[in-house]
Amino acid sequence: MLLEIRDLRVKYGNIEALHGISFHVEKGEIVTLIGANGAGKTTTLHSIMRLPPPEAPKVLSGDILFEGMSLLSTEPHDVVRKLHVALVPEGRHIFGNLTVMENLTLATYARKDGASAISADLDRVFDLFPRLAERRNQRSESLSGGEQQMLALGRALMSKCQTLLLDEPSMGLSPLLMYEMFRTLKRLNEQGLTILLIEQNARLALRFAHRGYVLDTGEIVASGSSAELAADPAVKKAYLGG
Ligand SMILES: Nc1ncnc2c1ncn2[C@@H]1O[C@H](COP(=O)(O)OP(=O)(O)OP(=O)(O)O)[C@@H](O)[C@H]1O
Ligand SMILES: [Mg+2]
Repeated sequence: MLLEIRDLRVKYGNIEALHGISFHVEKGEIVTLIGANGAGKTTTLHSIMRLPPPEAPKVLSGDILFEGMSLLSTEPHDVVRKLHVALVPEGRHIFGNLTVMENLTLATYARKDGASAISADLDRVFDLFPRLAERRNQRSESLSGGEQQMLALGRALMSKCQTLLLDEPSMGLSPLLMYEMFRTLKRLNEQGLTILLIEQNARLALRFAHRGYVLDTGEIVASGSSAELAADPAVKKAYLGG
């Protein structure tokens, strides 16, 4: 198993945000975690990335295992550098005053595999997102929302990730750009990238993922293949508009 969350309980201050959740992701899968506002989706991703408080909460009990090894005492930079896990955060967090090229290059700081490998990956990102290539010398804040989302994804790829955690990548995108983004992600998955996708747009997420879990106020309340979840009456009623 690539990633296993085992009975994880976490808190912010005195408030417990995850009440013992368990789920797993196999290598090569696309797994989605769907849930409403405040369900604990971002909290789950931040816990996996080992971000320090206040971004990530304190772990009360349970474990986060990556290839069988506990991450609880792993440093955030080692999650990126040694385990090749990357996060595309909610709201993207790109550096607006830097150019597209500078944002992409920054993501390579921890790599040790040399300039030619980095340049090959840059070609790959520009091949996936020609609009980023056209705008490589433009300040990132001048990009459209969709282009900024491409840049956030491109930046994660430049960190040489093999496992990608995505926090609501569809947010703020037009339907057209949203589908384009998901097609690209599907292609990356077919090339071997493992994806854990957090989404409020359950319809979209279940069309795209192999399997999923439903998170409701800090608890997993349903799980199954995307087809099973999409056919589940409770999931339909709560997340798919009936
Ligand atoms: N830094 C923080 N400090 C205190 N409480 C927090 C913090 N971040 C999140 N919470 C609380 O933890 C719970 C889960 O929040 P989280 O952001 O993980 O939800 P989410 O599922 O990502 O929601 P959304 O869909 O709105 O992004 C919420 O009750 C939220 O108010
Ligand atoms: Mg969130």
